[in-house]
Amino acid sequence: MNSQRKITILGAGHVGSHCAMALAAGAVCEEIVLVDALPEKAAAQALDVADALSFPPRPVTVRAGTLADCADADILVVAIGKPRLPGQTRLDLLADSVRSLQELTAQLRPMGVKGLVISITNPADIVADYLRRGLGLPRSRVFGTGTLLDTARLIRIFSEESGLARSSISAFSMGEHGDSSMVPFSQVRLGGLPFEAYPNLSRERILERTRRAGMDVIEAKGSTEFGISQALASLCGSILADEKRVLPLSVELQGEYGQTGVHCGVPCRVGRQGIEEIVVLPLTAQEQQQLDASCQVIRSHIESGLEIAPLP
Ligand SMILES: NC(=O)c1ccc[n+]([C@@H]2O[C@H](COP(=O)([O-])OP(=O)(O)OC[C@H]3O[C@@H](n4cnc5c(N)ncnc54)[C@H](O)[C@@H]3O)[C@@H](O)[C@H]2O)c1
Repeated sequence: MNSQRKITILGAGHVGSHCAMALAAGAVCEEIVLVDALPEKAAAQALDVADALSFPPRPVTVRAGTLADCADADILVVAIGKPRLPGQTRLDLLADSVRSLQELTAQLRPMGVKGLVISITNPADIVADYLRRGLGLPRSRVFGTGTLLDTARLIRIFSEESGLARSSISAFSMGEHGDSSMVPFSQVRLGGLPFEAYPNLSRERILERTRRAGMDVIEAKGSTEFGISQALASLCGSILADEKRVLPLSVELQGEYGQTGVHCGVPCRVGRQGIEEIVVLPLTAQEQQQLDASCQVIRSHIESGLEIAPLP
């Protein structure tokens, strides 16, 4: 790795282009490369982002590239695919996503991807698992944003409902980045106090608002892009600075939380080498059951994905 840190984004659509913009505006790295099945679209998105960097000036190069730019990137972000349509769940995107990834991993694997791979494409946990298997890389290097966006939404909603600043709220959304996600309320701290110290807050309402947030945006504007791109830029920034932050990411569990061989959103300590540790929170029996149920949803869809698009 040289001092010119490079992030390549595969998929220059709503999500990929906003990720490029958030990374560039935050000067998270020195080089950003956009790669898309439509090269002219990637070129146009790169130009548009590059224009934004004159006021104020940012020392970042943004350009379009090819698949070869995936191999030597410090971080490869996978944001291909289609946004959900109103009424669709993320799981409805499964067949489309794994078929694209089958071809993509066959092209990328022989190139030898050297950096970390962060996947955003939905259904997020199943795609992260498929990419890790397809690229033949360890779990520390291939993971998904998982419930990072759900956690951003959860913190916003806690803030709105409690009146506390977001920075005074500690909470995670865990499990599937999808309808079966769960919140371990026993671990929530609102201004240092447990959830029970706020009797006016309703668990059901907070869960429902968190799960529904993505579809509310999609129904009105067609895709979500700002929240996920800021989450991604913040994640990449803390990785490249080796900050060792604990963030909820979709990683393959190998016995943690009593689960094996399934990707799901759990708090992880993340650093320059990727996932360094999975933080195992002391869940209540009911929270463990909710996480188990979410893992079961993911596991069955991982199996379906591998049947639809088998890996060699
Ligand atoms: N994980 C999250 O929190 C989160 C949040 C928002 C969106 N998403 C997901 O991100 C994905 C992208 O959404 P979007 O709104 O940007 O879609 P989009 O249609 O705007 O963009 C997708 C882009 O990927 C490109 N593409 C498709 N297949 C490709 C391939 N094989 N190689 C290279 N490029 C390819 C398309 O040409 C297009 O430009 C979807 O799966 C969406 O559900 C995830």
